[in-house]
Amino acid sequence: MKKSKAFIIGGSGQIGSYIVENFLSKGLEVWVGIRRHSVSETQTSRLNHIFNDENLKFVYIDITDQTSITNALNKINPDFVVNCAAQSHVKISFDLPVYTANVDGMGVLNLLESIRQCCPTTRLITFSTSEMFGNSVSVGNFQSEDTPMHPVSPYGCAKLMGYSLIRNYRNSYGMFASNIICFNTESPRRGENFVTTKVVKGAIDILNGKTDKLELGNLEAARDWQNAKDVAEATWLILNHDKPDDFVIASGVSHTIKDLCEYVFSKLGMSYQDYVISTEKFLRPEELNYLKGDSTKARKVLNWNPKYNFEQTIDEMIEYWKTKI
Ligand code: GDD
Repeated sequence: MKKSKAFIIGGSGQIGSYIVENFLSKGLEVWVGIRRHSVSETQTSRLNHIFNDENLKFVYIDITDQTSITNALNKINPDFVVNCAAQSHVKISFDLPVYTANVDGMGVLNLLESIRQCCPTTRLITFSTSEMFGNSVSVGNFQSEDTPMHPVSPYGCAKLMGYSLIRNYRNSYGMFASNIICFNTESPRRGENFVTTKVVKGAIDILNGKTDKLELGNLEAARDWQNAKDVAEATWLILNHDKPDDFVIASGVSHTIKDLCEYVFSKLGMSYQDYVISTEKFLRPEELNYLKGDSTKARKVLNWNPKYNFEQTIDEMIEYWKTKI
């Protein structure tokens, strides 16, 4: 029987790499779209352990270069396209607002137009984000698919453009185009300038005597942190649902940055108050204060059941970084 083919744009990133593994384990042929950058040695570092899998293939693309997307779609003719390509750092989006808009907003439009022309029956999911909500919450203090979206960063604004285009193309052209409204997602593969890895790595450095302080920004903000492996499974379920739709994917539990510090430092036998300081350098011009996702729809409609809680995810990160530094 012919293998189904998936094209994962941004498949060398944190979430993308878990999606690649998940889809390979389901027997798909998986194409990873990678962007050229100058340090080629690190380009596929999150996939090195599966590099020789005969069902894993690579193609250079850039979501801002529509020709490259069209060429890749014509070459692969995928059954599924997953778009996790993004400039995904919220604070950096204040420094690179136009670039962020080009990748996270216009990039989705390039992809939709290319799919519409090359392979209109292909199923597409794009990574939208809880940053689109900004500081709005629904009654009950959570964000769901119906919560109004008022983003507070160039990143959130660009993502809202991508999210809206997915809905617009779905309604206008009958395309199978879905949004995963993804809350904060963590794992050992999380980049080092996101707060979870920064705290875990920083605390281990302190334990090992490499430094004696950890500088962070806002310690009061609260986030709903979930595990990348749970997100990868949700991606598959959304793509295989009987119709395209939008789903919040979140743990439903919220912790502050202080809670995160408290948990990590005490796991390592230390008190965070002795080492963590808040400095202006890491504050954002406008902050999203509180996230707690309500993923009831995904749990009911898709039967999505996350396997990891906050503590298990952070423990996994601590164990990983202990062996790395
Ligand atoms: N990165 C970082 N560095 N964040 C800090 C720091 C610091 O030194 N100190 C405090 N924070 C606070 C941020 O102000 C924010 O409130 C929170 O920690 C989380 O920051 P990040 O880990 O950078 O993630 P994020 O919430 O801004 O964005 C992530 O989640 C979104 C979904 O809600 C990213 O993965 C986005 O791509 C994703 O869409």
